[in-house]
Amino acid sequence: MDIDIVSVFPEYFDVLDLSLLGKAKSKGLISVHAHNLRDWTHDVHQSVDDTPVGGGAGMVMKPAVWAECLDELLGMHTESPDRPILIFPNPSAPLFTQQDATELSHAQHLVFGCGRYEGYDARIPAYYRERGVDVREYSIGDYVLNGGEVAVSVMLEAITRLLPGFMGNPDSIIEESYTGGNALLEHNQYTKPASWRGLDVPAVLLSGDHAKVDRFRRDEALKKTDRIRPDLIAQLDCHALSKADRKTLIELGWEVSGDHPRRIS
Ligand code: ADE
Repeated sequence: MDIDIVSVFPEYFDVLDLSLLGKAKSKGLISVHAHNLRDWTHDVHQSVDDTPVGGGAGMVMKPAVWAECLDELLGMHTESPDRPILIFPNPSAPLFTQQDATELSHAQHLVFGCGRYEGYDARIPAYYRERGVDVREYSIGDYVLNGGEVAVSVMLEAITRLLPGFMGNPDSIIEESYTGGNALLEHNQYTKPASWRGLDVPAVLLSGDHAKVDRFRRDEALKKTDRIRPDLIAQLDCHALSKADRKTLIELGWEVSGDHPRRIS
């Protein structure tokens, strides 16, 4: 996978070499290039932003400098059928989810544009969308960061760990939270010793009965999700739930006879 990142702080991405992502780079699974947006400016101050039209606080990133940079990185002047996907982090966009990470992990080439200041001119994504580029805007959460760099790091880590060959044990991806069509939070995990500072691991996990352990973990996942993220329970597909899942959900106060669970108590 080829990854281009455009930022006014490209050095921010030097740390990627230190993490697991660095390993993926050295294994040849990904190639990452961080570019300085100011390299596409022509003025002596290398300015990338201007005041907002219509007034207001802060500065907005100018479309012209982004376009010069993106035309080049997206290969707008070539007829390649394999155009990259262009991604802008943006606090006012739909939430980035595990499903997005999974979908993007199949892409050949991703280009990330990091906004700064009060954001970027809305015509930048609009322009490329109109020209047939797959443009995505994502928020990583309901809070505002100073710029897109942290958000891009988060998205990159979520995407690249799904690449075949990245994880030592790919099964751990199948088991974790948010994965699969019927996403639940993952059950709690424990390691040895079985008793630590007066706290015991649940006895069933020591029983050696795999069916019982699986049921216990599944019920724990359902209970934890009900407690912390009931919105995820409400999105489950009732038709894909086992009899035992339905029984647990009913005990937790959900009605499961429709397409999706509905809280009744
Ligand atoms: N830029 C600033 N805040 C952000 C957020 N929450 N998500 C994505 N990009 C951002």
